[in-house]
Amino acid sequence: MMTNKNKHEAFKNEKSIHTDFKEKMTYSDYLGLDTLLASHHPLSDHHDEMLFISVHHVSEIWMKQILHEMNSAIHDIQADNLREAFKKLARVSQIQMQLKNVWDVLATLTPSEYIEFRDKLGNASGFQSYQNRLIEFALGYKTDYVIKIYEKNPELHEKLKAAYEAPSIYDVAIQALARAGLSIDQEVLDRDVSETHQKNESVKEAWKTVYKNVDQYWELYELAEELVDIEDQFQQWRFRHMKTVERIIGFKMGTGGSGGVSYLKKVLDQYFFPELWQLRTEI
Ligand code: HEM
Repeated sequence: MMTNKNKHEAFKNEKSIHTDFKEKMTYSDYLGLDTLLASHHPLSDHHDEMLFISVHHVSEIWMKQILHEMNSAIHDIQADNLREAFKKLARVSQIQMQLKNVWDVLATLTPSEYIEFRDKLGNASGFQSYQNRLIEFALGYKTDYVIKIYEKNPELHEKLKAAYEAPSIYDVAIQALARAGLSIDQEVLDRDVSETHQKNESVKEAWKTVYKNVDQYWELYELAEELVDIEDQFQQWRFRHMKTVERIIGFKMGTGGSGGVSYLKKVLDQYFFPELWQLRTEI
């Protein structure tokens, strides 16, 4: 039983604060906090491993939300509900800013601290983050290693294969250009969407028409700029990852087996929406 002396000043005049939850759902029940917070399983006794795990957990939670918004935006675009897609894509960009800020926290982990528990990770690496690959698939960058990696989990394996074979947000945006009467090569409209999109002249010309006639194509213009926002943020995340990794492990190999920083620099060259960047030089 709570006595007056245990009540903080702010609670003194609050007569109806709920404290009997024997039969009712608490905040923690609703959020599944017991499961969420029990997901830290450090493999060493080192103080800093907790930060390393938390930063990955936070990132994966935000990735889940990005996928939720982006997959829904893909359906909106397919249904020509661009205004609904804009709301979701703007949210994706804001989440990406949060993801980028995670690097500032992780950068407080020094090389001397990380080396204390790095061996415990074995071959585990963010390289195997299937949510990161699902986001890349939704953006149109299709690589198949992750499908092999998760063969041992049939349900996830199926989910990854389905996303790999599904049209990306850029595929559906190009279809929307065609529906708006802009000329797109038939081979682009019929392409195998499990391949990464390759730069195409008709797509670039269509986007150029949009950017030169913004009043006529306002919604497609807004869609293009929201896609560029997302790609820009994604590249900034990749850059911060690469620099934070250099700061923590220098040029050592990654636990996933890549060359480390050299690999992370190479992925920075990958474009999701090449024509949207290319047209800027031409208008
Ligand atoms: C001390 C912290 C970290 C280090 C040293 C590190 C290092 C690396 C390295 C070297 C790679 C290349 C693959 C490999 O050989 O392992 C990689 C990939 C990756 N990491 Fe990290 N990482 C760190 C933190 C994070 C965090 C917090 C995330 C957030 C989820 C993350 C997500 C990823 C992803 C998604 C990839 C795949 C990138 C791609 O293939 O484009 N990493 N990491």
